[in-house]
Amino acid sequence: MRAEGGSRTAVLTCQGRAVADGSSAAGRFADAVAADLLRPDERLVVEQVRAGTPPKGVAARMAYESAKACASVMVPRTIAADDAIRDRPGGVASQLVLLGAGLDARAWRMPELAGTDVFEVDHPASQRDKRDRLAGRPSLARSLTFVPVDFSRDKLAEALAAAGFQTSEPTTWVWEGVVPYLTPAEVSATTAAAGELSAPGSRLVVLYLTPNARASVGVLVARTMSALARQRSVWADEPRRSAWTPPKLAALLATHGFAVTRDESLLAISERLGLPGTRGASIAHAHLAVADR
Ligand SMILES: C[S@@+](CC[C@H](N)C(=O)[O-])C[C@H]1O[C@@H](n2cnc3c(N)ncnc32)[C@H](O)[C@@H]1O
Repeated sequence: MRAEGGSRTAVLTCQGRAVADGSSAAGRFADAVAADLLRPDERLVVEQVRAGTPPKGVAARMAYESAKACASVMVPRTIAADDAIRDRPGGVASQLVLLGAGLDARAWRMPELAGTDVFEVDHPASQRDKRDRLAGRPSLARSLTFVPVDFSRDKLAEALAAAGFQTSEPTTWVWEGVVPYLTPAEVSATTAAAGELSAPGSRLVVLYLTPNARASVGVLVARTMSALARQRSVWADEPRRSAWTPPKLAALLATHGFAVTRDESLLAISERLGLPGTRGASIAHAHLAVADR
């Protein structure tokens, strides 16, 4: 990631959650904090989608369609990851590490984390941006520690140890929406670090993309549209770098001590939860795996 001002994909996923809050899967999905984390121009897009009033102009319309499409992806993935945090054998773990946290609001919206030490790991630029947006808002967690780490350069284990992470405590790791932006070597190194640091009873929840030519074409089209609209693409600083088949990912996790107990596409999760039908490559080819140690 090269962004100076923070991750733009993190803003997009936050917009998706803000769009869905109270309007999709009521009773199953809520993120009332997401809208508060957005800047006024980013929140305007959310309001337009929620009102169903597409703006004029190519660039504004692209932002509208991206936020709208993102909302339908965020609902199943957020519900499934939240469930995996809550339903861990033994209950909510005493440590939660959010790898590539972006504008994730779990520490501010989940009262279940009152007995949990939360570590938000993210690229330093994204983390600076988030802290600025939070403006000191207190979390609901037992403690919240920001740990700046660039997965392409820094040592995760050292950074977490310095931040007070306890290797003796069971930990839930949530790695959501980050793996596609890392090289296979960076994914392996991060998984290895999580494996080294995980006590028995730990759980890793990971969202990844399976190989899919249609989604790659979709990203290419979005980039071309951005270029035509003279806008910098959301994915300019975070190009897609890795895709995994379920067996390949399960093998990597097994090497580092995690056994996959569940692996579903977001489409399968949507169907299992009875969410309104959504089609598209991004929901069929994104998978959420839960792996336990
Ligand atoms: C799509 S956002 C996902 C954010 C959040 N997990 C969510 O689901 O909303 C991608 C996140 O990956 C982080 N990221 C991308 N490349 C990274 C790197 N090399 N090191 C650390 N974080 C990185 C970005 O900073 C950003 O927060």
